[in-house]
Amino acid sequence: MDIDKKSRSDLKCQKARILWFTGLSAAGKSTIANLVDARLHALGRHTYLLDGDNVRLGLNRDLGFSDVDRVENIRRIAEVAGLMVDAGLIALVAFISPFRRERAMARKIVGAGEFIEIFVDTPIAVAEARDPKGLYKKARRGELKDFTGIDSAYEPPENPEIRIDTTVMSAEEAAEQIVAFLKIPN
Ligand code: ADX
Repeated sequence: MDIDKKSRSDLKCQKARILWFTGLSAAGKSTIANLVDARLHALGRHTYLLDGDNVRLGLNRDLGFSDVDRVENIRRIAEVAGLMVDAGLIALVAFISPFRRERAMARKIVGAGEFIEIFVDTPIAVAEARDPKGLYKKARRGELKDFTGIDSAYEPPENPEIRIDTTVMSAEEAAEQIVAFLKIPN
């Protein structure tokens, strides 16, 4: 166990951490996380993005959207992100992650200052107007149960490190704000 988190991240000339994006469906989490990922990569940082596209289709394909399944979804994602931090990576995590308790648990997996909670704060009316996959419409018609913000809870962060108001800034501006927060040398 001589090769630890510090030696792995030192080799990559970076501080390993988790950038945890939370917010409603269609809030813009994945869009902003992808832009941050691209920007960090261009700056020579070693990153990896976990989102529904790679996790819910693989590791977590046995899980649905009941409260119990969401808790397990986030628990596994937090553990994987924790291992990535141990490997010296900057892990970007983009999931609704609706419950405070599980986000707090994810924070505890890594060290102080290594967990950056980013609240992608998009009001439900705005997310619902976007509705890129037509899921809000389906949920309103009662064809999709347990939909976040409609008949399943979303608990907004109380003290996120970063809050993004997507009604007043573009995804590109949001990505810039996040990268600036990280104070990465250019
Ligand atoms: S989480 O609550 O467990 O964190 P996650 O981020 O993995 O959710 O998945 C959310 C995505 O799954 C949504 O953006 C949406 O595209 C899709 N989805 C399908 N069913 C639901 C549902 N009942 N509630 C929320 N999102 C759903």
